[in-house]
Amino acid sequence: MLPTPTVRSLDEKVYDPAEDSFLLLDCFEQDQGYLLEKFPPPHTIPLVVEIGAGSGIVTTFVKQNILKDGIYIATDLNPHACKAVLETAEENRVDDEKLESCQMDLTNGIKNKHVDVLIFNPPYVPADEVPAVPETDDDESWLDLALCGGPQGMDVTWKVLHGLETTLSKNGLAYILFCARNNPMDVKRDMEQLGWKVDKIIERKAGWEVLSILRFQKT
Ligand SMILES: C[S@@+](CC[C@H](N)C(=O)[O-])C[C@H]1O[C@@H](n2cnc3c(N)ncnc32)[C@H](O)[C@@H]1O
Repeated sequence: MLPTPTVRSLDEKVYDPAEDSFLLLDCFEQDQGYLLEKFPPPHTIPLVVEIGAGSGIVTTFVKQNILKDGIYIATDLNPHACKAVLETAEENRVDDEKLESCQMDLTNGIKNKHVDVLIFNPPYVPADEVPAVPETDDDESWLDLALCGGPQGMDVTWKVLHGLETTLSKNGLAYILFCARNNPMDVKRDMEQLGWKVDKIIERKAGWEVLSILRFQKT
């Protein structure tokens, strides 16, 4: 079993690693062989982007253990999370020359069709609406952005799914986490109809929730 990165005690405005974060770590451990076949080191240097990196635990884990030669961009709307990503990388002695943490909405600042591996543990909890982005750094509601995903918990995730065509490189892969209330099998069917190959990599019961991770790639 690969080691879990250490995360220093976080600002309370940043999402603490939880079952969903750990499921992503297990997903990458399980899919390591596939990833290394797709992006064989040292000839291929993949651009890995994690949207909504939070504490940075997932980016740090993948950089440390899976795609060690990759170039990493961790994005988050939350400025406290952007800081936490770099602290977690440093705490775990990850080479930060190849890791940028950027405050941005999804992948808006990243050049089209360049992302080889996209990772997203989205705000997937069904809620009346996606919260507005706070206007000041010291606002207490930054953490709400981590959880609430609109009526089916899918508002933010669908934006990413609909943008995959422009975000991913030719051989690109996207790993996206869902809870059962997001109806991931309906998402799989709809994306397959749009010409995507979709594989369920891992699924786990977490309390009363069932979480799963789907891998998307263009057929
Ligand atoms: C469920 S948390 C996941 C955090 C971390 N990746 C993990 O697995 O522990 C979702 C993260 O997405 C961020 N987020 C929400 N909407 C976003 C957006 N439109 N663009 C970038 N990040 C976003 C939140 O601030 C939060 O850090």
